[in-house]
Amino acid sequence: MSKIKDPLLAGKGKAELEWARKNMPLLEAIRAKFQKEKPLKGEVISVALHLEKKTGVLLQALAAGGAKVYASSCNPLTTDDSVAAALAQSGIEVFAWAGQSQQEYYSCLNSVLDAQPTIIIDDGGDLINLVHTKRRKLLSAIKGACEETTTGVMRVLAMQKAGKLEIPVFAINNAYSKFLLDNQFGTAQSTVEAVMRATNKLIAGKTVVVVGYGWCGRGIASRMKGLGANVIVVETDASFGNGPAGVHKALLALYDGFRVMDMRKAAKEGDIFVTATGNINVISSDHFKLMKNGAILCNAGHFNVEIDEPSLRKAAERVWQPKENITAYQLKGKKTLYLLSEGRLVNLARPSGQGHPLEIMDGSFALQALCCRLLAFSKRLPAGLHPVPQEIDQEVARLLLKSVGIRLDKPTKMQQKYAESFEYGT
Ligand code: NAI
Repeated sequence: MSKIKDPLLAGKGKAELEWARKNMPLLEAIRAKFQKEKPLKGEVISVALHLEKKTGVLLQALAAGGAKVYASSCNPLTTDDSVAAALAQSGIEVFAWAGQSQQEYYSCLNSVLDAQPTIIIDDGGDLINLVHTKRRKLLSAIKGACEETTTGVMRVLAMQKAGKLEIPVFAINNAYSKFLLDNQFGTAQSTVEAVMRATNKLIAGKTVVVVGYGWCGRGIASRMKGLGANVIVVETDASFGNGPAGVHKALLALYDGFRVMDMRKAAKEGDIFVTATGNINVISSDHFKLMKNGAILCNAGHFNVEIDEPSLRKAAERVWQPKENITAYQLKGKKTLYLLSEGRLVNLARPSGQGHPLEIMDGSFALQALCCRLLAFSKRLPAGLHPVPQEIDQEVARLLLKSVGIRLDKPTKMQQKYAESFEYGT
């Protein structure tokens, strides 16, 4: 029997979804409103998101809003099969399972596109890329897309710069209610949790090298330090986009109290390495040679390219899997390095990766649901990368505060007037 039709698995998944729903008050409120108002009636939403319980709660809210939902994962290792089975039972068309080959992964992406979407939800840009290349016939019916992560937004931006972006895309990642919270605190907690689950090793006293001090890296470094690790940060002397450059991030790390150095130097010191750069081969064959016997490597960046696994495999005399989520590479001279979750998103690759905490995804996915509603309602927006409207971004933050019983004072008229008097540079 295929896993997706297994009633026992579906029962387990249903319990997972119920637990998530109880702890995601924003999405639950959106689902209730959508159920009544049916703002997504007639929409076909094709989705590529890590298919686990929090995503399930989002998908059920979209379906309650009247959409027909087709779901695949955005990564071959991150589907929770029990949630996938429960979702399939609840009427969502699911094309995902844990442990896909690359070919199966792309075949599932194509299956969700076969539904002829009017809206796309993407994480990493694979669906958006497919409809602009091999599935171009679908473009004319697509009202727009929502992109969840940093790497996906960068890919969409590159398409826009090349004049190749033909649909509107909401940059969900760039909303404050997303990257300030999800990338930083969500990735941090789930990455630390996944390293501990996969290895069962003590973090205190270890030297942990965090490569990339962006939003994700900053969170991981801070939480590893909180557990007693001696944290080293590696940044790059380069600048990507308009934001702070690697040199600024390196100073930020230094002033946050971390040792900062280049990768070759850090390679000799680390017990545990975590990459979070969105870049390629940031840990490569030059570095493996320098590492200590027993060093543990993992990646929290979107694609499995940050640690040069093919080179590691090539250099190894023996490769084996001592346990789930760990691959061992015995190099010449009998040194062994351990790679977690094949170098894919360690915090999401199952079974040790459980994804971000519920409260974090409640905020991120509330942005997704509200931007889908906007795409359904708006006259066709111009092609291009669009920021999440400020009202939605601030409303989600306000509701997240409300969900934990916090409300803030509104400014007095005098304060408002005083603050606004500076807005024109006077
Ligand atoms: P960011 O742009 O804020 O940070 C990336 C940092 O890496 C920058 O400071 C950059 O200077 C640095 N960097 C780039 N190349 C480097 C190199 N060769 N050596 C050292 N540092 C280098 O990006 P953010 O938001 O932190 O995302 C990082 C990656 O994590 C992206 O791929 C993103 O899609 C992914 N992501 C993963 C999540 C997860 O659940 N694991 C959640 C959110 C984002």
